[in-house]
Amino acid sequence: MSDTQENKGFLAKHGMLERSPTLLFVASLVVVSIGGIVEIAPLFYLENTIEEVEGVRPYSPLELAGRDIYVREGCYVCHSQMIRPMRDEVERYGHYSLAAESMYDHPFQWGSKRTGPDLARVGGKYSDAWQVDHLIDPQSVVPESIMPGYGYLMDVEVNAEYAADVVATHRIVGVPYTDEMIAAAESDVLAQIDPYSDSYDALMERYPGAQVRNFDGAPGVSEMDALVAYLQMLGTTVDFSTFTPDASR
Ligand code: HEC
Repeated sequence: MSDTQENKGFLAKHGMLERSPTLLFVASLVVVSIGGIVEIAPLFYLENTIEEVEGVRPYSPLELAGRDIYVREGCYVCHSQMIRPMRDEVERYGHYSLAAESMYDHPFQWGSKRTGPDLARVGGKYSDAWQVDHLIDPQSVVPESIMPGYGYLMDVEVNAEYAADVVATHRIVGVPYTDEMIAAAESDVLAQIDPYSDSYDALMERYPGAQVRNFDGAPGVSEMDALVAYLQMLGTTVDFSTFTPDASR
């Protein structure tokens, strides 16, 4: 058989497929589902799709309260929290974000809208005093800023009695909070703004690396304390001087 004859035989069979809508539909379905199965099937038997990274821990109750304020105030409308693995991003913001760094975020705050800068690694970039001044009156520290002020956060106390419920709710959606963490949630909120409290050691054991101090410099646990505690820990849990991606996964 010559090449041309062979081609004709193949085309004739393909013609059959093209002339029967039902056959074409069934055949397309088979072809399209192969891609779907290859992508979806492994997810059913993989226990975990996120590479675990040392240092990543669930939020402390005060940080979690701050995170709720962040969501409530709509900070995500102008700020993303995901550094893309591209050179311009990494040079501006620091190491690209790892999946593990947002594994305890419900809901996640990745975002794509950047009226302001990405905040995934803003923790430790400025002092607490700068953060407080900036949140009260952004233009006082960045004159050209278009960010609105949030001075009222200084006047609102955090409702620590709800902390246990918030922590327990996050456990329902998969964050590994223990019974002990839930029981201590209310006192942990107060302990995180007081380095001299009796619960200091227990707090540090539950939330290693937590920053403990009076964030807004004023007495009481204000929403400002909670929000600044949250901002100051963003992107700080992983030590990138020792981190090496696990290539085997
Ligand atoms: C209308 C948009 C808008 C909203 C809403 C907004 N911001 Fe901003 N934010 C900006 C802009 C623009 C900047 C850059 C100028 C500046 O530093 O003020 C900024 C800067 C920042 C910075 C400094 C980042 C850096 O790396 O220099 C922080 C921290 C910050 N915002 C936190 C917040 C928080 C927390 C909220 C919610 C309570 C919030 N922003 C709401 C627009 C916004």
